Amino acid sequence: MAMTTSAQGGPALAQQRRLVTEIPGPASRELLERRQRSVARGLGHVLPVFVTAAGGGVVIDADGNSLIDFGSGIAVTSVGNSAELVVQRVTEQVARFTHTCFMVAPYRGYVEVCEELNRVTPGDFDKRSALFNSGAEAVENAVKIARHATGRSSVVVFDHAYHGRTNLTMAMTAKNMPYKDGFGPFASDVYRVPMAYPFRWPGGPAACQAEALDVVTGLIHAQVGEKNVAAVVIEPIQGEGGFVVPPDGFLPGLAAYCRDNGIVFVADEIQSGFCRTGNWFAVEHEDVVPDLITTAKGIAGGLPLAGVTGRAEMMDAVHVGGLGGTFGGNPVACAAALGAIETMGKEDLPAAARRIGEIMLPRLRRLAQSHPVIGDVRGRGAMIAIELVRPGTLEPDPAATAQVARACHAAGLLVLTCGTFGNVLRFLPPLVISEDLLSEGLSVLEDAFAGLSS
Ligand SMILES: Cc1ncc(COP(=O)(O)O)c(C=O)c1O
Repeated sequence: MAMTTSAQGGPALAQQRRLVTEIPGPASRELLERRQRSVARGLGHVLPVFVTAAGGGVVIDADGNSLIDFGSGIAVTSVGNSAELVVQRVTEQVARFTHTCFMVAPYRGYVEVCEELNRVTPGDFDKRSALFNSGAEAVENAVKIARHATGRSSVVVFDHAYHGRTNLTMAMTAKNMPYKDGFGPFASDVYRVPMAYPFRWPGGPAACQAEALDVVTGLIHAQVGEKNVAAVVIEPIQGEGGFVVPPDGFLPGLAAYCRDNGIVFVADEIQSGFCRTGNWFAVEHEDVVPDLITTAKGIAGGLPLAGVTGRAEMMDAVHVGGLGGTFGGNPVACAAALGAIETMGKEDLPAAARRIGEIMLPRLRRLAQSHPVIGDVRGRGAMIAIELVRPGTLEPDPAATAQVARACHAAGLLVLTCGTFGNVLRFLPPLVISEDLLSEGLSVLEDAFAGLSS
């Protein structure tokens, strides 16, 4: 089978939806068969098309189909795939040297990324950063740092949380299937409290706003004891758990509670960070300043990099040699991050994210009016979701969610699902997507809902 290849990706790709075969087409199906024979079954695919190029708001597959990208590789390619400055910096770096290990012999790029992280994260105090390979690794290290800084061991996390797939982060993640099932025993001293989830709070959104903080702090007091808690770790807008946006006041109240009790407040901004929600970080919406902040995903335009940034005295509580890893802060990934962060500033991507929200939210709210299967429309900036339920109830409808996603995929729109109950469609377009393409993607989604009733 001849494979249609696009030698060049990046922003110069034609920004259009164009289907030349069914999805997946024959070239992708052939690769899928090879994948079946060579790759472990445990890795799933949202959309089994094999990618040959991507850029701006499109993904090109092996059959030459051009799909609209509402996923950004799960909130990673916020600056677009193969963004100009990322390619430039990576190309220069890869030709210079590819690795020394920062713990063996350091290099400037690592320091510059830490300087940038210290600059762009909230808080005008002295900060330090450390770099890792993945989001899960960053979360693990934030917990290590918080334990050293406090001399305490307990960690408090939330219902619907997602923090990764390593042993500690599986313990911190809420959802059993597919993330945890059969993989225990899990790390100990992790305690789960209810999330301030307005749509699903018993008594509704107003009760959520009024009660959630008291419920959470009451449970910590009764079941863990403040003096035992090293860290409270929260996603300011939950990602995999369903794009849950806590009501105003919850995060500031939680941060104040942590401050009053000597608990390290960790914001896991791995999905919500780096301009995604219309600010550089989602906590900024309510002027919340975390002690530690974990980043990954959007930080480096698609290259694997993650960070922990926070108060200098906490970060420096760990002895020399206590943090690190062979590949963490790899020079090529650092070069990519510097290109991505420069792009975010130059192109004002927080404003681009806000504009995406301004376009998407009203259209999704209109769609919800004509389709009662949409129980909730929520999100901020370019981190937007709709939650599907049996009309008039809170009963999740994962089947309708999957049906809409399949229809979108077949029509050339890459959308992702999420949520503890698998009933949330989430939208994470690259922040550089054109308004035309964004609008066309929304039309595809509207058509998919129109087809749902038939
Ligand atoms: C909020 C959050 N934390 C942690 C992680 C884990 O990141 P990684 O997959 O890079 O390990 C994710 C990934 O989806 C995430 O969304």
